[in-house]
Amino acid sequence: MDNTIANSPVHLTMRAGPGQPEPSPQLQALYHGFERELLVPLWTGIGELMPQQPRSQAAPHVWRWERLLALAEQAGQLVPVGRGGERRAIALANPSLGGRPYATPTLWAAIQYLMPGEDAPEHRHTQHAFRFVVEGEGVWTVVNGDSVRMARGDFLPQAGWNWHAHLNAADRPMAWIDGLDIPFAYYTESQFFEFGRESLPPTERVTPLRSRSERLWGYPGLRPLSQVGALPGTPLLVYRWADTDRALDEQLALEAEGHAATLSPGHAAVRYTNPTTGADVLPTIRAEMHRLRPGAQTRSRREVGSAVFQVFDGRGTVHVGERSWAVQRGDLFVVPSWLPYAAQADAASRLDLFRFSDAPIFEALHAHRVREDGA
Ligand SMILES: [Fe+2]
Repeated sequence: MDNTIANSPVHLTMRAGPGQPEPSPQLQALYHGFERELLVPLWTGIGELMPQQPRSQAAPHVWRWERLLALAEQAGQLVPVGRGGERRAIALANPSLGGRPYATPTLWAAIQYLMPGEDAPEHRHTQHAFRFVVEGEGVWTVVNGDSVRMARGDFLPQAGWNWHAHLNAADRPMAWIDGLDIPFAYYTESQFFEFGRESLPPTERVTPLRSRSERLWGYPGLRPLSQVGALPGTPLLVYRWADTDRALDEQLALEAEGHAATLSPGHAAVRYTNPTTGADVLPTIRAEMHRLRPGAQTRSRREVGSAVFQVFDGRGTVHVGERSWAVQRGDLFVVPSWLPYAAQADAASRLDLFRFSDAPIFEALHAHRVREDGA
């Protein structure tokens, strides 16, 4: 049956204006014809479809760690972890993205919570993922049978389609954040998912201090000659806080000694990289740690694509678009595409910021742009 105007999802309105046709009964009839045949002319929607610069649907927003953690603790009492639900993960929903569990149009960010003795079941998916630990320890992530210890400040990337499970070997609950490209995979209809084994065998329910991946890959600038091919995702499954912390400290120390080492005065920063390529750790996600010495500020910056930040330590103020917030340990906030972002550490406190973004997607498409204002 032919479409009728009444059930067409296309709705066109005549509007007088520059570049627009003069409203008339004939034009109305033409627009009804478009609606019936499911057609939309460019001239009625070019401003929204092709703006002069990115106009994100996402809003700047901050989530307070204290409140997130309190709700995750409640979920720990009420919600089981098992096959089907898979994870006790609670995602940030950007207030302008219709209540969907999307921190930004491309990125998922969730707090995950595991009770003592609990396991999260094994599965794999094509979405790329990482964990970042703002506090606590006692959980191991088991990736393809390799048990990886998680502790404060550790960053654990894991490329898509690798089997993974979690086990809490401690006598306390533990929370951390998960970052994935779930919204991007959803929009692009590119996702696959498989359930793994129902439980981990005793040989994998182990809690080594160092994972196999660290024993093979965890030495700066040294590559095992048995593994010389480039991999799309990093084979190093954890980047330890002691290394990140020292790298940032040394940048600030070098700056104080008069050497070029920081991004701008008092702003040290490192990017987590894939040791087989030197590129980002995951094909769709960039991850970095930034440190501002007390009183220092970043340059104001806008960038194509979106980012999520978590305050790892310290206190400061962040500015995103028209919004500003005082932030402290654990707080999470989002920076939508092309909105200006800047941060400043309090006078009496340094500010450590973990950041992840979708920049590798746009770089791969040659669509990435950055604009930085002066210091
Ligand atoms: Fe997963």
